[in-house]
Formats: sequence, C-alpha cells, structure tokens
Amino acid sequence: MPERHSPAAGPDPVAARVDARRDGGRVPIRALGADDRAALLGHLLALDSSDRYLRFGYVASDAQIRRYVAGIDFARDEVFGVFNRRLELVAAAHIALAGAAPGEAEFGVSVLAQGRARGIGTQLFERAAVFARNRGLHTLRLQCLSRNAAMMRIARRAGMLVRHCDGESEATLQIPPHSLLSHLGEWLNDAAAEVDFAIKLGLHRDLPPQAR
Ligand SMILES: CC(C)(COP(=O)(O)OP(=O)(O)OC[C@H]1O[C@@H](n2cnc3c(N)ncnc32)[C@H](O)[C@@H]1OP(=O)(O)O)[C@@H](O)C(=O)NCCC(=O)NCCS
Repeated sequence: MPERHSPAAGPDPVAARVDARRDGGRVPIRALGADDRAALLGHLLALDSSDRYLRFGYVASDAQIRRYVAGIDFARDEVFGVFNRRLELVAAAHIALAGAAPGEAEFGVSVLAQGRARGIGTQLFERAAVFARNRGLHTLRLQCLSRNAAMMRIARRAGMLVRHCDGESEATLQIPPHSLLSHLGEWLNDAAAEVDFAIKLGLHRDLPPQAR
C-alpha cells in the first residue's frame, strides 16, 4: 500500500498533483464523452504492466489498449473520470453495458499509482452504482484477481457478493430501484463536477505554457 504522507513533512506533493480537491472528502467525478477518448487513452497507457494485468486480467499491450479505448461506445456505456488541476485524468471507471446481460453492467476501474489510497477508487465505484440505479439496472458486476486487495476491499465494503474461482473473483452488487432523491443526488454531483472542470480549464488556460 502506498505510504501515507506525514503532515509534519509539509505540503503533500502527491495530493498537489492529484488535486483530489475535496468537499467533505469527495472528489469531483465527471462523466466522460468521446471528446475525452485521448485523455482516457493516455491514462490507461500510463498504467504499468502489473496494473494493466489487474485492470484487464492480462498484460494489455499499448495496441490492445488503443483498440479497447477506440471501441468504447460513449453513447451506450458510461465512463467516469477524475481530473487533476493539470487536467490529467488520474482515475477512470468504465461501466460497460455491451456484452452484459439485460439489466446488468460490468465495472472496470483504474487509479494512477500517485492517486491511490485516497478513496478515489471507492468513490468511482459508488458513482457507478448510482449510475446503474438511475438507469434502471439491477446488477453491477466486477471481475478481478482475488489477490487484488484494494479492489476486494471496495467490493466487500459495498456489500457485493463475492465468488472466488481459480485465483479470480467475481463480485456482484444488487442495485436498489431508483428514486427522486437518487436522481437529484446524481444531478447535483454531475453539476458540481462540471463546474469544477470548468474552473480547472480556466486556470489551466491562464497558466504560462511552461507551468502547465
Ligand atoms: C483498485 C484501485 C482502483 C483502487 O483505487 P484506490 O483509489 O487506491 O482505492 P481506495 O483509495 O478507495 O482504496 C480502497 C481500499 O483499499 C485499501 N487499499 C488500497 N491499496 C491497497 C493495497 N495495496 N493493499 C491493501 N489495501 C489497499 C485502501 O486503504 C482502502 O481501504 P480503506 O478505505 O478501508 O482504507 C487501484 O489500486 C488501481 O487502479 N489498481 C490497478 C487496476 C485495478 O486493479 N483495477 C481493478 C480491477 S477492474
């Protein structure tokens, strides 16, 4: 697990890079579209071979990652991301409906190493569950290696039913029916994330090129 930064050591450079600007511990999570394909590709290509193995179940090559990103249908699936103040995508989650049974979706997530153990993976999972709920889905699935301690922790804390087989785990979450409040909460979070992104975009444009 990444070392936690000691407050006595001054400002945390990792926190500064990730800019997981928190509002009561929450990070702004933005829905990505086809315009964000390049950012998503850059994010996934930045994963090392071990993380690629954990994310995809095999050590995806750059070419395989390019094909995967090119194949995402943003009108059908949902992709959520967390940007830092440099507008780098430090975390992304893909909720795939293609290939899933009716009423179900498959969840895949990655957080860059420098942003881990700060709750971002957990919040992306929670965001995915809200998405699934408000789209009328009844089951969210994820597959990962059983030794993936962080992912297993997220799954168990969310109350997922976990089945292990040959070193792999499949976890399923039963999603409750949507409600007016669940839609309102989603709408507020999306609006806050868009405002946060617009602010970062403005600040980024104002920076001299060498500071970007
Ligand atoms: C799995 C992953 C997304 C977790 O992201 P994250 O932002 O670090 O997750 P969180 O900060 O929400 O941490 C989740 C929990 O796991 C714990 N954790 C994090 N890293 C851990 C590790 N290496 N070993 C054990 N526990 C760990 C955290 O402490 C936290 O538990 P807590 O809230 O009780 O303290 C990230 O590690 C990752 O991108 N891994 C590579 C890709 C991958 O494995 N994807 C999942 C398969 S789809």
